[in-house]
Amino acid sequence: MKVLVLNGPNLGRLGSREPDIYGSSTYADLVALCERTAGDLGIEVDVRQTDHEGEMLEWLHEAADRRLPVVLNAAAWTHYSVAVRDASAQLTESLLELHLSNVHRREGFRHHSYLSDIATGVIAGLGVRGYALALRWLAELDA
Ligand code: DQA
Repeated sequence: MKVLVLNGPNLGRLGSREPDIYGSSTYADLVALCERTAGDLGIEVDVRQTDHEGEMLEWLHEAADRRLPVVLNAAAWTHYSVAVRDASAQLTESLLELHLSNVHRREGFRHHSYLSDIATGVIAGLGVRGYALALRWLAELDA
């Protein structure tokens, strides 16, 4: 099984970005964690990050066409992008919405997600370890 792990805007700046909220792990650490976890689980993973919404839409279209499960941290797009929602709605396999922080403990504008009602499940507030848990859940589903 192959999983796409897609990360949206500002997530490339993990480590230096508001570490009190997002933790001290860098984006490179996040990629390494996903790749190590996938190796342990015997699955393939492709971890990507973009600050460009059109690129994210193309990756979601690719996942839909290739029938791949997706772990999606859409970052700020979660809260306002109908386009990311519409692309995500085309997915045929599991969609796990993920946030490093617990968005429900934060500002009111982060409480609404354009993704949660079309996602298979949501993980929030578990930091980078949430990615490992998402991959484990997908691997067990596939076993
Ligand atoms: C985030 C939470 C979003 O509200 C925020 O805009 C992000 C990151 C998270 O991983 O906690 O950029 O998705």
